[in-house]
This record gives sequence, structure tokens and C-alpha cells, in this order.
Amino acid sequence: ALPSSVTIVEVGPRDGLQNEKNKVPTDVKVELIERLAGAGIPVVEATSFVSPKWVPQLADAAEVLGRVRRRPGVRYPVLTPNMKGFEAALAAGAREVAIFTAASEAFNRKNLNCSVEESLRKFDDVVAAAKAEGVAVRGYVSCVVGCPIQGEVRPEDAARVAVALNDMGCYEVSMGDTIGVGTAASGEAACIDAGVPVERLAAHMHDTYGQGLSNILASLQLGVRVVDSSVAGLGGCPYAQGATGNVATEDVVYLLTGLGVQHGVDMDRLLDASDFISQALGRRNNSRAAEALLKK
Ligand code: HMG
Ligand code: MG
Repeated sequence: ALPSSVTIVEVGPRDGLQNEKNKVPTDVKVELIERLAGAGIPVVEATSFVSPKWVPQLADAAEVLGRVRRRPGVRYPVLTPNMKGFEAALAAGAREVAIFTAASEAFNRKNLNCSVEESLRKFDDVVAAAKAEGVAVRGYVSCVVGCPIQGEVRPEDAARVAVALNDMGCYEVSMGDTIGVGTAASGEAACIDAGVPVERLAAHMHDTYGQGLSNILASLQLGVRVVDSSVAGLGGCPYAQGATGNVATEDVVYLLTGLGVQHGVDMDRLLDASDFISQALGRRNNSRAAEALLKK
């Protein structure tokens, strides 16, 4: 059975824009975030407080978060890889952060410059500090079905990390198919075997192989009620060669509406945000639903 409602977590301003070749002006980022929240999206991941040497695209994180006019009821999580990032995020007014590690050792070394174990230890400090400040923490597991370096990933490796994040106190664990290689079958396996109650899981599907929507449908059928997606299908991870963007938010909204699952997003206003960012970046819209609907 499908859930009656789904929470969409918009990751475009972070997962999408972290991978842009050209520098995106801060104004454009702020406007994008405001338009997405204005379209009724309840959670808009705004930016990352990571090292600007590693992700120069998001070096303006404090300014972005500081300038967004926040809507009551909307959450604006930001990625924090360590205490330095957490402290900067807190100073910029973050009320929710996300920590991230991987089911693959090789990927984690590339992305965070340490082993999975070491990253979990660093995150213990972040979670403790967040708890003391009343800041909510979301967890991400990358490479739950496949890794750009080591290839196939076993569900038990994904599960071990998901359980660690859950036990640490993350209120939700987002299972990331970072390079979009999974199919409904492997995505299902990753969720079923995650070892975390399904109501605490989110599906984070990149759409590299065009499997994003079917993976999401499979996860909804298992009871997953939180879906990460990216407006106009923006994105990819700079430390995962060849990976394309997340499944497009417009496509997810179209799917959910068709299924009769509540999502609270106004498609017309979402299309405004989608068209705005596609034009600002000077690129074709990567959402099939947006392309079709904007032509009408
Ligand atoms: P490192 O080089 O080992 O760290 O990188 P370090 O502690 O030696 O610091 C290096 C320099 O960065 C120092 O500056 C630090 O001060 C500075 P220097 O002394 O050389 O001038 N620094 C920072 N500056 C600002 N904010 C910070 C920060 N930390 C250190 N927080 C580190 C380790 C974790 C910092 C680095 O590897 C990093 O920033 N990685 C982030 C990579 C990233 O953002 N990847 C993309 C997000 S994950 C993703 O996309 C997957 C996801 O979407 C799910 C999925 O699809 O699977 C979530
Ligand atoms: Mg991602």
C-alpha cells in the first residue's frame, strides 16, 4: 500500500548547485530557495558548510542562509561535515543540519578524506553539539547500492552505516543512490534491509540511469514517506564522476499527484522555480514533466 502523504525534501540548492561548473551568484541561490519554499515544499536543503577548497560552489553558505527570508513551517537544513561546519552553520542561523557518510570506504575517502569509521566518530561530536543546541540532525548514507570507485555495494554495508546514524540520534536517514545505478530491485533491498524503521528512512535517488522514479515508487510501496529530489533535476556529486542530478522534483510531484498521494506542492509555482533556475544557469530543464508542462 502507498502512504497517504509524502514529504518532499528539495535538495537542488545544495546537491544541485554544488556541482555547477560556473559560479552561481548568491542572489540566484537565495531566490531559488525562496521560490521553492513558496511553492509549498516543506524542506529545502539550502547549502553546505563544507570546506570551500573541496566545494568552492558553496563557499557563500553563510551568506545564502543568512539572506533567505524563511517561511514559517519550512525547514532549511544544511550539510555539515565536521564541527567547524556545524559551528559556522549555527552562527549563520541553521536550525537543522545533515551529516553524511557512505556505505563505501573508497567513496568516503574521496568525499570526506577519512574512513567511514572516522567520519562517524567526527559526527558523534556534531550530533552532541546539535542536541545541546536543539538543532535537528538528518543523516545520509551515500552509495547504498553502488560506488563510483569500488562498484557494487552490499546491502549489509549500507545497513551498518544507516543503523549507526540512526543510533547516533539522526531523526531520519536518507539512503542515497549517489550514482543512480540502482533499479527497483536493488533500491528495495537497500530499504528493506536498512535495519532502520521505514518511517525514519528517506529515498535519495540520482537519476543517472533513468531509474529514479521507479526506485521511488518501489520505496513508497515499502512505506517510505520522505523523498529527496532536485528542481529541474539539477545536480550530482563533485566526488562521484559521471553521476548526474537527482530525480527531478517536478517529476516526483507529477507521480505523487497521479497516485493520489498528498504532497502539498503547487506545481505551477514549482515550475516558476524550475524555469527560473534553468534560465539562470542557461541550460535545458532536466525534468521531463517540467519540459512538457512549460510547453503547454
Ligand atoms: P580535509 O582536507 O581532510 O580537512 O577535508 P581539514 O580539516 O584538513 O581542512 C582542510 C581545510 O579546509 C582547512 O583550511 C580547514 O580549515 C578547512 P586551511 O587550513 O587549509 O586554510 N575546513 C573548512 N572550511 C569551511 N567549512 C568546513 C571546513 N572543514 C575544514 N566545514 C572535509 C575534510 C570534510 C573538510 C572535506 O573533505 C570536505 O569539505 N568535504 C565535503 C565534500 C562534499 O561536500 N561533498 C558533497 C556532499 S555529499 C553528497 O553530495 C552526497 C549526498 O547528496 C547523498 C548521495 O547522493 O549519496 C549527500
Ligand atoms: Mg546526492
